[in-house]
Amino acid sequence: MQGVFGLAVILLLASSCSYSMQQMMPWKMTDYFDLESQNNDYATAFFGNDEQKLLAGSANSMSFNVMNYGAAGNGQTDDSEAFKKAWSEVCSATSRDDVPTLFVPEGKTFVVNQIAFMGPCKSNSIRFQIQGTVAAPQTTSWSQDSFGSLLRFRKIDNLIVEGSGTIDGQGARWWNACIRKPDFVFVLDFSACNGVQLKGLTHVNSPRAHVTVHGCKDVTISDIKITAPEKSPNTDGIDISSSSNIKIQDSTIATGDDCVAINGGASFVNITGVKCGPGHGISIGSLGDGGDYDTVEEVHVSNCQLIKTTNGVRIKTFQGASGYARKISFEHITLENVENPIIIDQHYEDKSKKPKMDSASKAAAIKLSDITYSDLHGTSNSDYAINLNCDDNIGCSGIKMKDVDITSAVPGKSTLASCQNAHGTADSTQPKVPCL
Ligand SMILES: *[C@@H]1O[C@H](CO)[C@@H](O)[C@H](O)[C@H]1NC(C)=O
Repeated sequence: MQGVFGLAVILLLASSCSYSMQQMMPWKMTDYFDLESQNNDYATAFFGNDEQKLLAGSANSMSFNVMNYGAAGNGQTDDSEAFKKAWSEVCSATSRDDVPTLFVPEGKTFVVNQIAFMGPCKSNSIRFQIQGTVAAPQTTSWSQDSFGSLLRFRKIDNLIVEGSGTIDGQGARWWNACIRKPDFVFVLDFSACNGVQLKGLTHVNSPRAHVTVHGCKDVTISDIKITAPEKSPNTDGIDISSSSNIKIQDSTIATGDDCVAINGGASFVNITGVKCGPGHGISIGSLGDGGDYDTVEEVHVSNCQLIKTTNGVRIKTFQGASGYARKISFEHITLENVENPIIIDQHYEDKSKKPKMDSASKAAAIKLSDITYSDLHGTSNSDYAINLNCDDNIGCSGIKMKDVDITSAVPGKSTLASCQNAHGTADSTQPKVPCL
């Protein structure tokens, strides 16, 4: 009860601030990594202790429990140093039979500040097993200048992050816009890691996105649960960018923003068995912010449920950009009380920003093509269950819609489809899409 009251107070404060959440820039991973390259020193900070490396050869050497490195796990003390020490041993351990494992025991809460777990590691696979809770401090002080990651994994191959534990981003204070703009604050962040498996964990209340994947290949995310309040700003579930061969499966995501966001440079992304809601649905984009060249292809979403989300399956692009999003499919999707079940928005705008483009440069656009919607059914909360708002000049092509049945959530009401410059075919759809 107290927590709910506290959150209400924070949200009230946020709405009375001189600037609101809506005025914030949407984060861009590319900006974050550009900034990072100027300041790379901390990346190598956890290596070089040869004595610790030698100790790794003792009995049971492949499991490194943070409690043995001085962690308190009392929900108060900063346990970052213990995690860093344990990591330096895990990362330098080798074994033919076992996967070196950093172990976080159950029944305890470990408060950490920013930690960068940097590879490459000696073993060809590394495990990070979380049975207890790993939490951010209850302040915003852990991220100076709203920049950084609570748990950052970088350049580690075949990393397994798993367990039945929880990662708590303690985001409530961040959601108050008066404090700071948390554009580049991440909680669990994988970058330049190939062969990641993330499974079993619960992720709660991140300042912004809960899980971010950037510059990775062969990533499987499964059986995770993500929750944040419906009204928490920018709390995406999973954000993917500049990555390929990504599988997201059998997970539940209930947050205040996108369930899964697939951003520029993502390809071969399969999402199956994901239950979303509340939140903003499954989104490709936004692409082309600030006139960027962005590409996305081979994204396949199937057997997913969207419940009480503001969008179902969405593709959103800014005007004046270039690139493409193509070879995309949405199949076997259930929608329940969704505001915009099927939506393409090529006139996406961030209302907080001044338009950067004059009308001439707005003529460019991200080309959308080969987009299939098949077997989508359920209910819409708005009149327009299908909205294909394509670019005025380039348009969308190769849209295939079949076996779509979206009725109104209001009994007796009918649903409608609207199109602008959308081309393709429609077969057995309700509402009818005469423009395809
Ligand atoms: C991804 O989904 C597509 C379309 O359903 C399928 O053809 C492909 O085999 C899937 N890839 C993986 C790696 O599961």
